[in-house]
Amino acid sequence: MEKEQIRSLIDAQADRTALEQAFYSDYEIYQRDIEEIFLQSWLYAGHMSEIPKVGDWFLFELAGESIIIVRASDNKVNALVNVCRHRGSRICLEDSGCSKRLVCRYHGWSYDLEGDLQTAAHMDDDFDKSAISLKRITTEILEGMIFVNFSEQPASFESARQGLSANLKPYRLDQAKVAHRQTYSIGANWKLSVENYTECYHCAPAHPEYTRGHSLAKPGARATAMMEEVMSRAAECGLSDGMVNCTYLDEPGFGSGFAFQRYPMWRGHITGSEDGQPVAPLLGGIRGFDGGTTDFQVGPVTFALAYCDYVVIYRFTPVSLDQSECDITWLVRGDAEEGKDFDKARLTWLWDVTTKADKRIIECNAEGVKSRFYQPGPYSTMEDFTWKFISWYLQTIRP
Ligand SMILES: [Fe+2]
Repeated sequence: MEKEQIRSLIDAQADRTALEQAFYSDYEIYQRDIEEIFLQSWLYAGHMSEIPKVGDWFLFELAGESIIIVRASDNKVNALVNVCRHRGSRICLEDSGCSKRLVCRYHGWSYDLEGDLQTAAHMDDDFDKSAISLKRITTEILEGMIFVNFSEQPASFESARQGLSANLKPYRLDQAKVAHRQTYSIGANWKLSVENYTECYHCAPAHPEYTRGHSLAKPGARATAMMEEVMSRAAECGLSDGMVNCTYLDEPGFGSGFAFQRYPMWRGHITGSEDGQPVAPLLGGIRGFDGGTTDFQVGPVTFALAYCDYVVIYRFTPVSLDQSECDITWLVRGDAEEGKDFDKARLTWLWDVTTKADKRIIECNAEGVKSRFYQPGPYSTMEDFTWKFISWYLQTIRP
């Protein structure tokens, strides 16, 4: 599809209505998604606890690019482009590892953890090693969570940091650790995955396990009354009662929204688990279960749920035009021991069963959207946030 056609399609988009088929099937639009959204936005790469020692690294891969996320010194993380400065070979080939030097196996060039070239054999006498370093992308660390941005001039992270730090502080995520991380492949364009995540209209029909504990699935007077109860307990439990609304449209240049909101769990449920009972020790400085839960968002495709005893971080990325990935990280208190303080199967049960159901419904959605009979329909009042995301998306990719 030509730029002119994409522009016309965006300008013709009906208010509060699902997207036209082309947004899920046109390759040029997909390329714009990569260029204008994924290569410009802050993306969650991983958690500091995944690279505890100097030299520990893991790969973050997106849109054909491979980035080495490496712990360079005690508190410094570098995001080095996994492309040798000699003839371009990949350097690190495994998903993760630990090394003092990053050595390219093709011709043996080696780099230190800052990406500076250290050795290169049989080069001319006038070859200047000091002028060569691996390219890098920008990183920011927020409460132990590592974010990266491919842009040469990334939007400032400071508004997100200022908006979220105080609210996240009680969870002490910088002292948490990854208990489990799993990637779910979804046979659908990435937008169908994000659209699904950003609304809870589907929760009651699709997620009985989630719906029995979480009020977000059934907004109304009962949830509002419960919210007051939760907020009245928040301070004594050491939790924030603050709210930060998503800033998608207020700050289009930011390339990513951020948000923090709290909502109540139904009585008898104090965390997100099969029986509503705790699955891990209280996080950080939290002193008790206040009966509420927290959603937060950093950038357009990273979302998290923070319970008093664990946090799940979701990140959605495209793999191809009609394939996406949902990467989920489960964080628990840093000193919690598996088998003693938490059982991994109990910890991961709710968001594993819920994500598998999401995969099914998103893939059914993708099949229907491909139909020659598909026609975009109107959003419900429970899809306001999805519309906000779609509006931002259209404005951002408009040629
Ligand atoms: Fe869902």
